[in-house]
Amino acid sequence: MCGIIGIVGVSSVAPRLVDALKRLEYRGYDSAGVAILEDGALTRRRAEGKLVNLEKRLVAEPMAGTIGIGHTRWATHGAPTERNAHPHATARLAVVHNGIIENFAELRTDLEADGYRFESDTDTEAVAQLVTRALDHGRTPVEAVRESLPKLKGAFALAILFAGENNLLVAARKGSPLAIGHGEGEMFLGSDAIALAPFTDTVSYLDEGDWAVLTRESVTIYDENGAQVTRAAQKSAGAAFLVSKGNHRHFMEKEIHEQPEVISHTLAHYLDFTRGRVRSENVPVDFARIDRLAISACGTAFYAASIGKYWFEQIARLPVDIDIASEFRYREMPLSKDTLALFVSQSGETADTLASLRYCKSQGLKIASIVNVKESTIARESDVIFPTLAGPEVGVASTKAFTCQLAVLAALAIAAGKARGTIDEKEEQRLVRHLSEIPRFANEVLRLSPQIEAVCRELMLVKHALYLGRGTSFPLAMEGALKLKEISYIHAEGYAAGELKHGPIALIDDTMPVIVIAPHDKLYEKTVSNMQEVAARGGRIILITDARGAKETGIKTLDTIVLPDMPDIIAPLIYALPVQMLAYYTAVFMGTDVDQPRNLAKSVTVE
Ligand code: F6R
Repeated sequence: MCGIIGIVGVSSVAPRLVDALKRLEYRGYDSAGVAILEDGALTRRRAEGKLVNLEKRLVAEPMAGTIGIGHTRWATHGAPTERNAHPHATARLAVVHNGIIENFAELRTDLEADGYRFESDTDTEAVAQLVTRALDHGRTPVEAVRESLPKLKGAFALAILFAGENNLLVAARKGSPLAIGHGEGEMFLGSDAIALAPFTDTVSYLDEGDWAVLTRESVTIYDENGAQVTRAAQKSAGAAFLVSKGNHRHFMEKEIHEQPEVISHTLAHYLDFTRGRVRSENVPVDFARIDRLAISACGTAFYAASIGKYWFEQIARLPVDIDIASEFRYREMPLSKDTLALFVSQSGETADTLASLRYCKSQGLKIASIVNVKESTIARESDVIFPTLAGPEVGVASTKAFTCQLAVLAALAIAAGKARGTIDEKEEQRLVRHLSEIPRFANEVLRLSPQIEAVCRELMLVKHALYLGRGTSFPLAMEGALKLKEISYIHAEGYAAGELKHGPIALIDDTMPVIVIAPHDKLYEKTVSNMQEVAARGGRIILITDARGAKETGIKTLDTIVLPDMPDIIAPLIYALPVQMLAYYTAVFMGTDVDQPRNLAKSVTVE
């Protein structure tokens, strides 16, 4: 993970580095730092914790200079202290790094045996010392990097600044993304186009194994064999991204409230509401020729895909294998050529999802992805991209990306059903009409926030919580538990309601809140039986249901959140909102850092 930035510019670089790091803070916020050349001499400022600490440091100890590198860290090797913060430096250079150098211990032993002294516990410092040794052996900076790169195992995006070299940055990419920004008489590099947006909207992306030499006037890119290559410059949409919470307390709150609008944009890309049809031009996959879908994703994206599985199987009779990407990548699953591999990712950079994609590619499968960041590595390595039009998601806990992923999956399931002849035109129209109602229902449900906020005053007092659901509400229960634990730090588990009696029921007593997600669908009665089991043992039920469901339970609850009656297919998208709000308000009452919860990062580029 981590975010990196490099600027070889014409104006004071420290504030520009900080500006870019603010846009990268979503990639990690354990520490931050910059290195700048002041009259050819390397200077560094680093600070533990959020970027704001570095900013304060820079006010107290300002830096001059027009060339520099910066970093915001998500700790992998070494505690999140200032000593382990990037940039890592020797007398001759400074390095920022995103990724993991897997053979760092070996390199360190070798370098220490040669007299090189390490200051930190990080894997990155091995890169700094390795390139320094090559310089000490008389290599030029560019030669030193070229010679060192093949010795590094693992994943990296690197930017290196050299003492005395006022017009040179060297960058390299293997496994972790890196974009080059082309300015007027200046050059930039960064983990993504969003970081570069204040400076330029013209970017080129380094390919796997590429490395680049940047000066103010030019960028020269080499592939891993050392051959000079061209990587096309393109206009980036990142420029449109402005970091603003609007009138909301947190990005998460803003993003929850944006859902009616962004789901509507996303659906409109796939569905023609006037004709009640799927826009087949935006679904360039022949589902009739596929006999299986193999889906991989992580975290929230995995839960979205797990709901999608129900839809593909029910609507299109298309069997779906679904895996957590970190398991799939090592499972060596036999795959037939008639399988479509589908990857779901908000960031499009998740290391495990990307590795699964590459595995499927190596097996000759067609690759499709549902991604929110269109310039991302997963998007660029896919044969077919299904974009979610959620806009930038800043809150670390995913909300609007999740419901937009669901919107795409529902639209694709209908497209698949149509192509495979499992639904006719009339059914297609009926389902499309149902999906068109999502924004209206979502708006209605957002108005329940005062009630949800009130129940969170109880939820904030507990240590553990259970979420239960059946059918598509089961993955949503797991998503609810994930949301609660990641932002409120309350331990929570999501279970299929039918599994309760196979173990978790032992946990139920009068201290255990049980959040039951139960729309009045064909499984409702079954879920009510499970609720009875909870009630009989004193569990405190928070029921999320609809008007019909609320009327019929007859079970005493701590609270019942009543949503409007709605068609089954849209329930997961609408029920996601109270589930997100429960986690959000609980975390707000507990005073946690909602947008940047501890130990997490928005883009998980390490495995
Ligand atoms: C949780 C959350 C994570 C991500 C996961 C995958 O709120 O956001 O679980 O869903 O890290 O990330 P992407 O979708 O970027 O691949």
